Amino acid sequence: MDKLTVRDFDASRKKIFLRVDFNVPLEDGKVTDDSRIRAAIPTIAHLLRQNAIIILASHLGRPNGKVVDSLRLRPVAERLSGLIRVPVRVTGDALGIGTVDAIARLKPGQMLMLENLRFHAAEEANDAEFAKQLASYAEVYVNDAFGTAHRAHASTVGVAKLLPPYAGLLMEREISMLSSLLEAPERPFFAVVGGAKVSGKIKVLEQLMERVDGFIVGGGMANTFLAANGFGVGKSLLERDRIEDAKRILAAAEARGVEFLLPSDVVVAKEVTRGAEHKVVPAQKIPNSWSAVDIGPATIAQFDEALAPARTVLWNGPLGVFEVPTFGDGTRAMARSLAARAAEGVTVVVGGGDSVAAVEQLGLAEKMTHISTGGGASLEFLEGRELPGIAVLPDRPEPQRKVARSRAARSRSGAEDHGTDNDEGAAAAAKGAA
Ligand code: 3PG
Repeated sequence: MDKLTVRDFDASRKKIFLRVDFNVPLEDGKVTDDSRIRAAIPTIAHLLRQNAIIILASHLGRPNGKVVDSLRLRPVAERLSGLIRVPVRVTGDALGIGTVDAIARLKPGQMLMLENLRFHAAEEANDAEFAKQLASYAEVYVNDAFGTAHRAHASTVGVAKLLPPYAGLLMEREISMLSSLLEAPERPFFAVVGGAKVSGKIKVLEQLMERVDGFIVGGGMANTFLAANGFGVGKSLLERDRIEDAKRILAAAEARGVEFLLPSDVVVAKEVTRGAEHKVVPAQKIPNSWSAVDIGPATIAQFDEALAPARTVLWNGPLGVFEVPTFGDGTRAMARSLAARAAEGVTVVVGGGDSVAAVEQLGLAEKMTHISTGGGASLEFLEGRELPGIAVLPDRPEPQRKVARSRAARSRSGAEDHGTDNDEGAAAAAKGAA
């Protein structure tokens, strides 16, 4: 998948509609995790360096077509502004004469942010008239919102059909990193898969079955596999209606000679709450009135050892109830183990909200090869599905592909400007352009 990107046109003095995914967590009106904002800076900096006019557009949360004050984008714009040291005003609404005027007043090198697109139900409905209004603000469309690429909304699909569309640098990197896992991973390739439910992961397990040398499975979803192997799981989270799926997956792994590692010991707790009584037991002997909440110490060591030969690792989903710190040891140990492997040159890609949060909390994000900004989007991508927000972006014409491939390879190795904490280049460029 080789898309035309923001590098493929001259943005100088042009008005750019830049769709980003700034759907970030907020607490008391403050952004608590700005990784999605930082990830978009390379594209913003690239456009500002070219003296473009940027109209930023994002959704935040799920306001369902109503104005919800706690989901206004102001705190997000403030964080972005602090990072790139350029003022970022938010319009009162994504539509309306005030917004049209504010855009008309923008000078080359300046930007503004439209208020939360999902305050209009027309956004999620991919309404043609709404898309037309948004498209009327700009001359070129750039999509850097990989995290929203699985949604066919007005700002991800509708506008892309009305203006010349290009991928942003984050979108390019996400596509390149995730495609390389599906197309040509360096072997041995292991997938570490966790999270509460197996139901959301069945397709991805099936898709990866043909590609990986081994699966390492933890978290709530491991219980359904333990049950499929005939063990009781006490009060643990269990999807009974998925036991047959789990059996099928285990049989497919065996038939293909794919390793399928499940926990050998688990931490069980009386209640899945902070401070609850807990202990370590063999995974085959979970007591009736207890719930598995984390992988145990023997499993942590086994998983780490199993990963020793890996040259590529994909990690999606926590290995325990990570939001309760006492039950987060397995997830934290995996984050440390993978950071150490990445430092030795193993390609480590982390995707999915909670595993990313674990890595961020431990300050290990910079150590990984790639942290995907997409939760649902990266899962759907890895399931091999076509994401509407990507499908609508044009492929690069064949003769240009060779050049772009070497560029993408350089970008994968981190040789290009792909967002650092305080992206000096971005800040300087942005400042100069302001
Ligand atoms: C996400 O956080 O996964 C994306 O921003 C998409 O959000 P949505 O699931 O509300 O569409």
